[in-house]
Amino acid sequence: PVESLKLNNNLSIPNVALGTWKASPDDCYNAVMTALKCGYTHIDTARIYRNEVSVGRAVNDFLKQSDVKREDLFITTKISPYEFQDPENAILASLERLQLDYVDLYLMHHCLAEVTGEGIMPRDENGFRKHIPPEVFSYVDAYRLLQKLVSKGYTKSIGICNINVPKIQRLLETKDLIPPAVVQCEIHPYLPQHDLVEFCKANNVVVEAYSPFGSTGAPLLDDPDIVQIAQKHDVTPACIAVSWAVQRGTVALPKSTTAERIKANIILIELDGDDMDVIDNIHKRITKRYLEPKWKLNVYDSDADFRPYT
Ligand code: A2P
Repeated sequence: PVESLKLNNNLSIPNVALGTWKASPDDCYNAVMTALKCGYTHIDTARIYRNEVSVGRAVNDFLKQSDVKREDLFITTKISPYEFQDPENAILASLERLQLDYVDLYLMHHCLAEVTGEGIMPRDENGFRKHIPPEVFSYVDAYRLLQKLVSKGYTKSIGICNINVPKIQRLLETKDLIPPAVVQCEIHPYLPQHDLVEFCKANNVVVEAYSPFGSTGAPLLDDPDIVQIAQKHDVTPACIAVSWAVQRGTVALPKSTTAERIKANIILIELDGDDMDVIDNIHKRITKRYLEPKWKLNVYDSDADFRPYT
């Protein structure tokens, strides 16, 4: 069943969330409404997804129609890297779009600040995102500004996405920072990030796994090991992928805009030790990731869990 995990600030986080990346505004409204009606309490969006307005409309409509209260829900959004230098205005704009007084979790979308004033996702002449050199304004500087939003009441918790172990370690070791409550990364059986998951567990940081089906094309749903385990338990491959993510202690963020799938994706089963073992090792046969090194986000360079990208 969907359960709550304890964050390092003593708040709770439900361990399955509806992901909304790539959900168009109309689809997103319907998806969030469907999810809330069938028992999801955790919705994940981001400024960059351009669907915060739809998420907010669905959440507020649902709250009006049901006995569920705002404090029973867990709403996450993310600050975009072009907003890193002014997080207060960024979160106020997100809250305005969401029509909420606060979010439960505000995440830095990745670890490199982008130039401000050139729109969303500014790019250079080679098509790369235009970053501020880290020695001028680093992700640590951005995080330091972000933490002020907690005491102002705009967000209950903060964290960071698309990060690796050394960078998390640096946040944890920097004296004037509150530790991130959550890190959110691409994690699925083709990219299990065992080191990162273990490191975060040891340091009391909750890990959220986005793209639990392997990102574009949901390749894991056709993976022979996943299919076989699904057949053994008479459930869908999607159920196996989400159950594995939850059973290893991460928060799973399955994205769907299809009502039947949304409903199915929170029905979890208990996998046995052999199943977990097989799934834990699928990455030795095949590794896939969406976040490519050529994006120069500097996320995976030192992650021992990877074979070299080809
Ligand atoms: P759709 O939104 O059209 O339902 P990921 O979270 O790994 O990025 O994967 C999301 C993709 O997986 C989307 O294309 C989504 O399609 C698809 N998907 C989500 N849930 C299921 C499911 N239960 N069965 C099959 N495909 C699914």
